[in-house]
Amino acid sequence: MKAAITATANYLPPDILTNHELEIMLETNDEWIRSRTGISERRILKDPAKATSYMCGEVARQLLEKRAMTADDIEVIIVATMTPDMLFPSTACITQSIIGATNAWAFDINAACSGFLYALNIGASLVESGSHKKVMVIGADKMSSVTDYTDRSTAILFGDGAGGVILEPAKKEGYGILDARMYSDGANGKDHLLMTGGGSRNPSTHETIDKRMHYIHQDGRQVFKAAVIAMAEVAEEMMSRNHLRAEDIDYLVPHQANQRIIDATAERMGVDGKKVVSNVARYGNTTAGTIPICLAELDEQHKLQTGSNLVLVSFGAGYTWGGIYVKWQ
Ligand code: UT7
Repeated sequence: MKAAITATANYLPPDILTNHELEIMLETNDEWIRSRTGISERRILKDPAKATSYMCGEVARQLLEKRAMTADDIEVIIVATMTPDMLFPSTACITQSIIGATNAWAFDINAACSGFLYALNIGASLVESGSHKKVMVIGADKMSSVTDYTDRSTAILFGDGAGGVILEPAKKEGYGILDARMYSDGANGKDHLLMTGGGSRNPSTHETIDKRMHYIHQDGRQVFKAAVIAMAEVAEEMMSRNHLRAEDIDYLVPHQANQRIIDATAERMGVDGKKVVSNVARYGNTTAGTIPICLAELDEQHKLQTGSNLVLVSFGAGYTWGGIYVKWQ
């Protein structure tokens, strides 16, 4: 039996950082940011006492409430993040402690912007194998913790946010997570979007801090080109493997990095703009958060009906990318 998404939730911190505020901090302007990225504002988790696990906890609590479950019911918690509270223990274990899911085992996945799709694929496999019946999958990133607000090439892009789902066995055959294809290309991707400080290669020292190695560095143009090709290819692959014509797709749910990448993916698929989910204008790129945040918004707006066909596609650091086909139950 396939795995189905039985609850969705998201959490966006209330504080907003607008393009106009960034204009004061950096040599940039609203017009450039909107025309090159589609972003107008992003959310920031300002309270320094709150980390990624805080957002995961908020998502997890809502998921339990929506599905009328108790924390004891959850068997696995998978958190996709590249901004864990700390290198260890995992943010999934911290989330487990926040909600008191004492029966679960918990672990993190780091595949950057593709983290949620990787985690969803793993979670779905645990359900499909028959070994687990209630899996919580969360994508969350506090990107403001690794963003250099003196670097205009990255500071304008990222925001904080989280989203998640509960996976359970599908009630009927032919529904749920029906297909998934995941990819990585470290040889071509590992040097273009990265944070070099704080790991075992460059443990934090005064020098790594002075060199700003604890922040994201991105070769934007290179990543952009790779993202446009990979997202379009995996989206087409999802369509052809599952015999989906553009008109069969109810929603394309793409990773939210740049409106131009989203538009290029939709164009290659031939999907009408009305079916393309986009909130990059409001939240920027929340990395592992983007896709589950979109899913929860669609769900909240009652746009997901039994039989709705969703294609989820993502691309991120690594490089990592992937696609998932869901027939909504
Ligand atoms: O989520 C993970 C995957 N990440 C992505 O998918 C991000 C992919 N990359 C992108 O979205 C885009 O490459 C960016 C939005 C990061 C940059 O857009 P771009 O159209 O590729 O611009 P660019 O880097 O080629 O820069 C064009 C010009 C440069 O000036 P010159 O050299 O032409 O004089 C930059 O210095 O724009 C300048 N520029 C800016 N100007 C105003 C770069 N950043 C800014 C800025 N404000 N914030």
